Amino acid sequence: MPDGTAQQAAQHGINLDIHRAHSARMYDYYLGGVTNFPADREAAGRALDAFPNARIAAHANRGFMHRSTRAIAALGIDQFLDVGTGIPTSPNLHEIAQQVNPAVRAVYADNDPIVLTHAEALLDSTPEGRTAYVQGDVRDPGTILDAAAETLDLDRPVALSMNALLHFIADRPGHGAADIVAAFTARLAPGSYLAISHFTPDFEPEATARLVHVYRSSGTEAQARTHAELAALFHGWHLLDPGIVSTPRWRPDPGTPAITDEQASCYAAVARLR
Ligand SMILES: C[S@@+](CC[C@H](N)C(=O)[O-])C[C@H]1O[C@@H](n2cnc3c(N)ncnc32)[C@H](O)[C@@H]1O
Repeated sequence: MPDGTAQQAAQHGINLDIHRAHSARMYDYYLGGVTNFPADREAAGRALDAFPNARIAAHANRGFMHRSTRAIAALGIDQFLDVGTGIPTSPNLHEIAQQVNPAVRAVYADNDPIVLTHAEALLDSTPEGRTAYVQGDVRDPGTILDAAAETLDLDRPVALSMNALLHFIADRPGHGAADIVAAFTARLAPGSYLAISHFTPDFEPEATARLVHVYRSSGTEAQARTHAELAALFHGWHLLDPGIVSTPRWRPDPGTPAITDEQASCYAAVARLR
């Protein structure tokens, strides 16, 4: 990424904080993107030493986002709220959903300024649909939801996705991942959908612990969660088949290369609000 990018961002009052590794840019590096800086690549290199399957896991996670979005859109949902969007990577969520229904409206939210500087790629909607970007923190659901309500009708079902996001939220009394999901849930209409993917220690406990340590030592909160902890996030929701499984096992497309639970080390699930 050209160094001038950070300077251009600074001229618009955006501090990309390029001397510290950011999770969005490390993820972009795993996916083979170029929107990352030396500090991100250094931390990503340590992450790959700790958990050599990080690239495979990132691609498997993207695959879950594609399949779950397609499945939810095929169920007739035409409003999407994607929190922790990441640096735009084609196909983006709205592109997948609008292939099913061109009238889909999608709102994206992320707290990393690097995503804001690339947000125009997320605003490339079909004429029938609409997309919007909100700079917001998942720990402040009200702000994200209020901004999303300018584009989405929250009195109708919405598909809320939090993919590869909540493992960057450490549990603290009253402020954990479950509290965040509950706060979003309280504002959603019955018939809404929730898609979550999340890093887990269940398959590769030692490598997972090493990876969590790399993120924490780079200044990013991180917490891998077990199957039971994931299930708790879906309190009040009805899980769709096949329930909570590793990302490659969630309704795989026929003929896709086999990825093991250990390589993915990430759970995924989709649920419907009763
Ligand atoms: C690993 S990326 C996942 C991107 C995309 N959801 C996907 O699954 O391909 C995690 C994203 O979550 C964002 N993120 C981390 N903490 C966040 C927070 N507290 N609020 C909003 N976004 C956050 C990061 O900036 C990054 O873009």
